[in-house]
Amino acid sequence: MSNVINHEEIQKLIHSQLQWRYATKVFDGNKKISEADWETLTESLRLAPSSFGLQPWHFIVANSSALREQLVTATTPINKPKLDTASHILILARMKSLPVEYIDAYMELVAKTRETPIGAVQDYRNMIVNKFSTFPAEAQAQWTTRQTYIALGSLLTSAALLSIDTCAMEGIDPIKCDEVLGLTKTNYGTVVAVALGYRSEEDKAQHAKKVRFSMDQVFTVM
Ligand SMILES: Cc1cc2nc3c(=O)[nH]c(=O)nc-3n(C[C@H](O)[C@H](O)[C@H](O)COP(=O)(O)O)c2cc1C
Repeated sequence: MSNVINHEEIQKLIHSQLQWRYATKVFDGNKKISEADWETLTESLRLAPSSFGLQPWHFIVANSSALREQLVTATTPINKPKLDTASHILILARMKSLPVEYIDAYMELVAKTRETPIGAVQDYRNMIVNKFSTFPAEAQAQWTTRQTYIALGSLLTSAALLSIDTCAMEGIDPIKCDEVLGLTKTNYGTVVAVALGYRSEEDKAQHAKKVRFSMDQVFTVM
């Protein structure tokens, strides 16, 4: 990357794009995210970090207009214009629990990817299994939800760097959304949805000043 753009330019780019982005309320329905950009965004989700590397999530692309219409019934009315106009709609789902079989499958992938015998990751596997065996079901669901929000952050930042607009949407009813997506009886459940695309010129929200507390208020240097 340093061959293409120097470090100072990257600093400026991050700063300017994070100022540029805002929670887009209305998208330009005629503008679509290119396949290459979409690939970059999906990769930013796939590569998102997670505690122990467990990736306890699943991402659902809901682009058909029939599905979008159904999703409208699962969201607060304020989010309807985003579902109607965004180029892409994504639902970020978490695992409801972490079965031992899932942890074992992950450990097999670690061993295979790093070309090490499965025995070399046995202690790590046991530590994780023991940790989650002490978690009540609700605590497991909270933990997987937290991990899924890390993926959300990665997606929003990557999109901003590509000058792609987004709006994260917690204003969805996860139970209804699960029904629409057929997740109810699975081990996955809706956490948050994201609308992605390009801002409409009509969207007044783009002119609102960004509201953030000052550095002094949000940082303590000790
Ligand atoms: C996790 C999360 C959920 C959000 N849910 C909604 C939502 O349902 N509808 C909406 O219009 N904005 C939603 N927002 C947008 C926030 O209101 C917005 O990010 C915040 O006010 C800061 O403004 P900015 O993103 O424009 O800088 C959500 C943002 C986040 C991070």
